Amino acid sequence: MDALVIYESMYGNTKKIAEAVAEGLATRMRAEVVEVGSAPPQIGKEIALLVVGGPTHAFSMSRASTRQPAAHAVARRLRRLGVRSVAPAESFYVTDIRGALVEGELERARQWGESLAASFPVPAS
Ligand SMILES: Cc1cc2nc3c(=O)[nH]c(=O)nc-3n(C[C@H](O)[C@H](O)[C@H](O)COP(=O)(O)O)c2cc1C
Repeated sequence: MDALVIYESMYGNTKKIAEAVAEGLATRMRAEVVEVGSAPPQIGKEIALLVVGGPTHAFSMSRASTRQPAAHAVARRLRRLGVRSVAPAESFYVTDIRGALVEGELERARQWGESLAASFPVPAS
């Protein structure tokens, strides 16, 4: 069983987070990371776990209350498409619009990916 991480990134921060999440997943299952423009139009049956992520763009000043809803909105749209969610949405933080990532976020993303794979109810192949 494989995992696929699909990301969108304007300034490169989400790309780094996506790669760190894939690194964490790869400790327990095969994991591939692709930019959304290169993502397959259909998710094959070999993909058991799909992780999607992108920057928060709400066209307003960022504050704690504007961060969470963006990730939750993605989760809601995926649910409407019939995707079963196996983990709640997670947010990773930058220090400014272009970055850099807040210190420790790459390691937190790697650990999040690892714990996601560990909690996933499919044995690694
Ligand atoms: C047009 C625009 C709108 C944004 N709106 C928000 C926002 O509402 N809340 C927030 O926390 N960050 C906001 N940001 C900051 C982005 O979240 C930040 O640029 C992003 O995390 C960087 O990721 P990337 O390097 O992958 O593009 C905004 C950035 C842009 C360019």
